[in-house]
Amino acid sequence: MTTDQPDDVAVPDDPAAARARHDELVPLLRDARYRYYVLSDPVLSDAEFDVRWRELLALEDAYPALATATSPTAEVGAPVDSAFPPHRHLESMLSLDNVFSREDLAAWQTRASGPLDDEPTWVCELKIDGVAISLTYVGGVLATAATRGDGVTGETVTQQVLTLDDVPYRLSGDHVPALVEVRGEIYYPLAAFEAMNAERVEAGEQVFANPRNAASGALRQKDPAVTATRPLSLWIHGMGALQVTGDTPDPDDPDAAEDTPDPTEEALGEASFATHSGFLDWCHEAGLPVADETTVTTDPDEVWAFVDHWTSHRHDPTYEIDGVVVKVDDLAQRQSLGTTSRAPRWAIAYKMPPIEATTRLRDIEVNTGRTGRVTPFAVVEPVVVSGVTITYATLHNEVQVHAKDVRIGDLVRVRRAGDVIPEVVGPILTERPDGATTWHMPADCPSCGTPLVRPEGEGHHFCENVDCPNRILESLSHFGGRSAMDIEGLGYKTAKLLLDEGLVADLADLFALDTRRDDLLALEGWKEKSVDNLLAGIEAAKGQPLDRLLVGLNIRHLGPTVARLLAGAFGDMEALASADAETMAAVDGIGPVIGEAVAGFFAVDRNRALLDKMRDLGVRLTADVDATTSDVLDGLSIVVTGTLEGFSRTEAKEAIESRGGKATSSVSGRTTAVVVGESPGSKADKARDLDVPVLDEAGFARLLDTGELPDAGA
Ligand code: IVH
Repeated sequence: MTTDQPDDVAVPDDPAAARARHDELVPLLRDARYRYYVLSDPVLSDAEFDVRWRELLALEDAYPALATATSPTAEVGAPVDSAFPPHRHLESMLSLDNVFSREDLAAWQTRASGPLDDEPTWVCELKIDGVAISLTYVGGVLATAATRGDGVTGETVTQQVLTLDDVPYRLSGDHVPALVEVRGEIYYPLAAFEAMNAERVEAGEQVFANPRNAASGALRQKDPAVTATRPLSLWIHGMGALQVTGDTPDPDDPDAAEDTPDPTEEALGEASFATHSGFLDWCHEAGLPVADETTVTTDPDEVWAFVDHWTSHRHDPTYEIDGVVVKVDDLAQRQSLGTTSRAPRWAIAYKMPPIEATTRLRDIEVNTGRTGRVTPFAVVEPVVVSGVTITYATLHNEVQVHAKDVRIGDLVRVRRAGDVIPEVVGPILTERPDGATTWHMPADCPSCGTPLVRPEGEGHHFCENVDCPNRILESLSHFGGRSAMDIEGLGYKTAKLLLDEGLVADLADLFALDTRRDDLLALEGWKEKSVDNLLAGIEAAKGQPLDRLLVGLNIRHLGPTVARLLAGAFGDMEALASADAETMAAVDGIGPVIGEAVAGFFAVDRNRALLDKMRDLGVRLTADVDATTSDVLDGLSIVVTGTLEGFSRTEAKEAIESRGGKATSSVSGRTTAVVVGESPGSKADKARDLDVPVLDEAGFARLLDTGELPDAGA
């Protein structure tokens, strides 16, 4: 596999030029680390940081005189300059060296195996893109939680960390050491991150650049009650100091760790600490969260298979990952390999190709969407981000453009995460060209010329003309979409053609297209088969239940979850249309904002007329009996792994949660069922090991409908 990483960095032959470049890089990297670790507001993407960091390492490698004690390469994180009390780690929190290719990973494996008497067993873990944390348990009780800081001294955030559901205050199980430092990564789950940013966009507040910044910001709140409102989670991935038995040591005394016995010499009850995998098993038993994607193997090819699998499934986990960490399992072997000043020789991070890239912002244009919302988007110089060429990226609204201080002509960072629309993260301010221009929202809709309005307290501008051509085009193509009426063959291109050719003027006209078969056949490039497919798709859509029709109507704030709640509560369109905003808002899960939006839609005569026209053309206006977002999954815990045809990751989660279930990411004895799609991860095997029912996509659909699981053994 090749990566997007550049070839090895160039080192000048001239020592003076090398020193000059070193002098340039040091403040840049120091500032980047300070902004990243302390301010949670990075100026460089990880990939940009990595390239410059490798250049610094290469310079110091070629000219050792440059590698002074004050070089950032001698530090691990950022110097601690913080409002939180300092905490000195009993054992330093090191960083990891990186590789970017199969060859370099294999070379590291050879290097690590070389000095060992026996071939090592490898542990492969996902590299979680979060905030490193060290939890010190003394006598089984959480004494301190601290960030990494500079690797030696971190910031004490114990009260904040105790608000996480995943963090036990007291360890469970029979084997609790006198003192242990467990290390892990605190992360912001992706779905919650996306939902939070969407809310911030609506409210006109600045969005977080990525889940890691959101996690860092949430953790570093002075008031733990604020942290408690954020859905932070934790995975444990390592151990610092360990004292198995004896008097309870003072966790604030750095010398206490000196007495720490070698964990390999002392067994901790049945839980062997001779290996890292044994430590992870103990964590599980002690109630500490351990990600279950981890694989232990002696086969070097299997290590690569793990990397390869997760590189192509990097968006499957419910948290963001940026690589894979490969570790030597045996703790005695680790000890003989040792560490450098910044990183262990027994572990390596394989960095996946970045999901962020830097490119030039050529222009900002706006698009009027199906609800009339006018969204600015960036037109950028094409750039490849995780395998896809990006030319456009959203900027959400005018507030975001100004909050991020993005100007036309800037070098900007763009980010593409999973099935989310690419977005502009922010400008690289140090590279701002002269003449970069500030952008403002146009006064009028670019599609129909109607003056735009920005409602009080909102971040967005709107075109309120219901006949706006672009609104209708976007409405029509959304109407055929998977979460709405699911009409095969009705995408953006077909919608545009039908409108341009005058074959439809509104959504209801679609259902009369069977009378225009000859006109359809006369369209350029259309054949009997494509026409029949489209007409069959439209005919089938007439029978779609009320919730899907509601989603197709382009009512603000009305997505699949709200639609199911309303369909379930009112049963048919007539009952819903005659309810007032308060009655709607009284439905569990619907608030006044949604109530107003939906009632507002039905208050417009032409919308009522549109629905009458649909009814006359045979469109069903009633709910499925079980589309009620019933609580068929109440109390059930469902894990989805692999790719499903009919659901994105977010849709599957929404479908589970809207029925009262819990969509979880790890399989345990408490998991009700595991839904297995294409190319599943190790969760499928784990489910079978634990005798947890495994469902295919059809089984998942049945479960959503009825809450029923297949018979045991299925
Ligand atoms: S092991 C001696 N395992 O990545 C350092 N680190 O870029 C041992 N990280 O500092 C770290 N996922 O904060 C390890 N599965 C994983 C990880 C992981 C994320 C973080 C960790 C580390 C950083 C290095």
